Amino acid sequence: MALLLEKNAVKKLLITDVSPRDGLQNQAKYFSTQDKLWLVEALSACGVPRIEATSFVAPTAVPQMADAADLLAAVSDSTKDKLCVLVPNQKGLWRAQEAGAREVCVVLSATETMNQRNIRMSLANALSTCLTVLAQAQEAGIRTRAYVAVAFACPFEGQTSPDVALRLAKQMADAGADEVVIADTIGAAHPVQVSNLMRLLMADIGPGRLGIHLHDTRGLGLANAWAAMQAGVQRFDSSAAGMGGCPFAPGAAGNLATEDLAWLAHESGYETGIDLPALLQVVEGLSNRLQKPLGGRSYAWLKQHFSRFPGTTDLEAASGFPS
Ligand code: COA
Ligand code: ZN
Repeated sequence: MALLLEKNAVKKLLITDVSPRDGLQNQAKYFSTQDKLWLVEALSACGVPRIEATSFVAPTAVPQMADAADLLAAVSDSTKDKLCVLVPNQKGLWRAQEAGAREVCVVLSATETMNQRNIRMSLANALSTCLTVLAQAQEAGIRTRAYVAVAFACPFEGQTSPDVALRLAKQMADAGADEVVIADTIGAAHPVQVSNLMRLLMADIGPGRLGIHLHDTRGLGLANAWAAMQAGVQRFDSSAAGMGGCPFAPGAAGNLATEDLAWLAHESGYETGIDLPALLQVVEGLSNRLQKPLGGRSYAWLKQHFSRFPGTTDLEAASGFPS
């Protein structure tokens, strides 16, 4: 009886697909504005509830994101409401605002060196910039997310002290960020660290505002996601096809793949709103456009499975499919 109740209880995960930003920022092949528009609209059509569409950064720093304003201008109005965009400074916020962005993400790295390498600011300067941008965005009625990057480990300074990550996350929460996202930027965290930090933060920030952003460099992406889910986290970043990585953080491999996370979530009784077979087509579209095989760890199996059982939703497939 208890098992049945548990199965019937509806639990939800809010997934933000970051493939158009984190996924593309590191790609050597230029992805045209038209292709970016296809990606954003296709993710939206799959039921992905939120999408990090682009970043308003210096085009000299990340040439792939130079068309941020053009992309936003081309997106349909219904999709636009699902989008957030990354801004590294006030100029980024002004550009995003002018382009009609409804949600912006600020980035604060937990270490001195990562801030210097990523946005050429000291930690203190990055913190005050984030606080200013958050305040200005709020005043303009723009929703906000605040990343705490390299929250578990930094490619330059090694392990990040949990006390530092906690303090910075709380500062972002106190500044009124609508969501505080703890980022394992280089995919170096393990589940015990994730569990410990997210449980502490959950007590302060709560499931409505606390999110996590995972990379899958060491094969622990899903295990870390599960640890976060068990800690009560309901907001996750992931990237279609597992694309991703910060160009300024050496050793960062792709993000946790959205298809892997959605599959784990659905198998475990969480709703995401994502149509998994449709998402697999987006992954295929990305592979074709970037001319290389892409996809998360479950992709090959999922693709074969849904082609054997066309028309099934993954939840139906999960209950009693043949091996
Ligand atoms: N968008 C576009 N151009 C910007 C900008 C922004 N948000 N911020 C600054 N610039 C321009 C300035 O206008 C200036 O242009 P000019 O040379 O034509 O006058 C030039 O960039 C340098 O400005 P400065 O303020 O000195 O910036 P910087 O060289 O110290 O670089 C950042 C700082 C933040 C702009 C840059 O490091 C950056 O964009 N980083 C993004 C990193 C990133 O995307 N990481 C991955 C995601 S976390
Ligand atoms: Zn990332």
